[in-house]
Amino acid sequence: MASDKIIKSRFFFEDEVEEKLAEVPTEEPDSWQADEKLAKVGKPYSRIDGYDKVSGTARYAFDMHLPNMAQAKTLRCPLAHARIKGIDTRKAEKLSGVLAVLTHRNTPEIKWYGTSFLFDTHLRYEGDEVACVIAETESIAEQAIKLINVDYEELDHVVDAKEAMQDSAPKLYDSGNIRNGEPGTYSRGEVEKGFAQADTVIEDTYRTQIAIHNPTEVHCSVVNWDGDRLTVWDSTQGIFRVRDGVANSLNIPLNSVRVIKKYMGGGFGSKLEAGKYTVMAALAAKQIGRPVRITLDRKEMNLAVGNRPDSVQTLKGGVKKDGTLTALFHHSYGAIGAHPSNAQCSWPLKSMYKCDNVKVEEYSVYINAGRARPFRAPGHVQGFFALESLLDDLAEKINMDPLEFRLKNYADKDQVYNIPYTSKVLREAYQKGADAIGWQNRSEKPGSGRGPVKRGIGMSSQIWWGGGGPPAYATLKLNRDGTLRVIAGTQDIGTGTYTFMAQVAAEALELPMEKVEVILGDTAVAPYCGASGGSTTAPSVSPAVRNAAENMKAKLISGAAAHLEVPESQLTYQKGMVNHKTNTDKSIAIDQLVREMGEQVMVSIGKRGANPEGYMINTFGAQFADVQVDTETGKIRVNKIVAAHDIGRVLNVKTLENQMHGGVIQGLSFALMEERVIDRYTGKVVTFNMHDYKMPTIMDMPDIEMFIVSGGDPKISSTGVKGVGEPAMIPTPAAIANAVYNAIGVRIKQLPMTPDKVLNALYR
Ligand code: MOS
Repeated sequence: MASDKIIKSRFFFEDEVEEKLAEVPTEEPDSWQADEKLAKVGKPYSRIDGYDKVSGTARYAFDMHLPNMAQAKTLRCPLAHARIKGIDTRKAEKLSGVLAVLTHRNTPEIKWYGTSFLFDTHLRYEGDEVACVIAETESIAEQAIKLINVDYEELDHVVDAKEAMQDSAPKLYDSGNIRNGEPGTYSRGEVEKGFAQADTVIEDTYRTQIAIHNPTEVHCSVVNWDGDRLTVWDSTQGIFRVRDGVANSLNIPLNSVRVIKKYMGGGFGSKLEAGKYTVMAALAAKQIGRPVRITLDRKEMNLAVGNRPDSVQTLKGGVKKDGTLTALFHHSYGAIGAHPSNAQCSWPLKSMYKCDNVKVEEYSVYINAGRARPFRAPGHVQGFFALESLLDDLAEKINMDPLEFRLKNYADKDQVYNIPYTSKVLREAYQKGADAIGWQNRSEKPGSGRGPVKRGIGMSSQIWWGGGGPPAYATLKLNRDGTLRVIAGTQDIGTGTYTFMAQVAAEALELPMEKVEVILGDTAVAPYCGASGGSTTAPSVSPAVRNAAENMKAKLISGAAAHLEVPESQLTYQKGMVNHKTNTDKSIAIDQLVREMGEQVMVSIGKRGANPEGYMINTFGAQFADVQVDTETGKIRVNKIVAAHDIGRVLNVKTLENQMHGGVIQGLSFALMEERVIDRYTGKVVTFNMHDYKMPTIMDMPDIEMFIVSGGDPKISSTGVKGVGEPAMIPTPAAIANAVYNAIGVRIKQLPMTPDKVLNALYR
């Protein structure tokens, strides 16, 4: 077999192109074809870690209790904007059971991600870290926090992006509140000419709110030093990112940090990097010579670990009478909080539909609030709400069915780079979704239903990345009893990574699932895989596992050839056996072969192959919503969502359905309920618990029907898988918004569509 090679790998991780050197195989098995019938891949296996989870034996970082472990709590700034003039920790230190207190004074040189300080004296939001107390128990640490005396100089604050953009606004940074000092821009064609060609032009402004990730499992680390080596049990989407971030802050070699994450209760983008809390815990643990556990409470989760930035999007669209989109314009701004992040939300408009003339200008704006971070399809959820609302209004103006309008402007190739897609099965998604929701029965006259409760149907398209790419590696270990261990430095963030890895290995080596065990989430034992974000885990990791299995097969055949003294070409591999093609006496079981070779374990390594050159890899889909709106109370009830998606090959239809349901529910929640509210005058967050920050319950759930319209995308990789985590959520709010318009005939241009907004729109 030809030796492997190193390439420069580029692929989209969320809205940014990631570029990394990656080792890729030069030879790979033929890709599973779209219609290929597989024995294990695609089947609805229950999670192999399911029993551990439901029985409570699965240990999350939160559950780690080491002997002699101390507990840490963080003192956070109570003001929206302040400077520390003085800090007195003496009373706290004297409290019985307090072991250490960290502030900027005893950690002056510690930086976080090379840019900001672990503790800064300039506090830019309510929730900014002021001190960390380490004590025998959490309650002692909490008591001690109250004994720290901080002399704050209160500064003027700004918590609204529009206000923050004014020259007179309080500045978070000397360089001003607009990140990079200028908007992000994009253009193609000639947008003014495009609008001149249009028969109808609509311009409107759409607003989306700030939302908090609020995963079930709070952010949490347990850290332990053994000499100069640090082990971190963390709740994270990226074990290697945490390793790098912590080692960098502590200025120690990467080898000294081991990050472990076996299970996780959700992250949604808020756990993609090392947290300051982990670094604090590590510093404290070193100082006191004991393990330290640090957990955030729900209020801290709502203040300080990230959010989806809000958006004010002004869109303008031009269309000809025949439905041709002639121009699209997007201007937006959004609040990114107190630290660098990104509020861009124009990718849907740039990429979803065929349009030759496009112009974009978008601002990311600092305000005195917790920082924005990636949140399940960053930018796309917001962007599609605005784009699809505009599209429905344009369609109505030209008397065209909204679905027909979208088909009219169907993009047959990527609009930004002008290259073909590896695959796009969106027409089928439109068809399946429309049939299932009963599109043909949809009222063409919005708001024309009788009675106070009006029903409506709407839809939205979806585009996202999710092709993944190298580097991603996997190791297989075949034991002398025939059991197989799959090891990769990826993580299962609750999405089913454990299970699909076992399925892919069991498929390729034709072994029963019970023989396969999966180890992941440990930087010390597993080869590198990227962070679990951007819907890249399955598309990146599954081909590496398959490649490792094929390499194992090649080894087994080579070993059997030597043992049986026949040429390799005479041998084939089937179901745990290496068989001679004609002589049935000459065969050997793989467990026996491992023993014959005198090895306890046979090892093979696999790599994710390169993505094809000259293609764009995207996921596509469409969702259809059936809603009813009570025009007397303003309450919206979502009856049904149909989600029809092109995600390449399905690895496990059961865990896929979990992901789909989760995405739709999170989308519904964003459309109707969730909103972080800040009081403008105090700059303080008023929705910091699960009572005031509204989330749906089982009573709010719609029927959810799912269709996967793709069989597989053989151009991408040997498994033909695209991601699904984010696509599942992207079109839901937009589909609901369009259904609401269809029901009541009045457009709600601001999320969440709470009853007050509905009533205002109807009767104001
Ligand atoms: Mo992310 S927002 O965790 O892909």
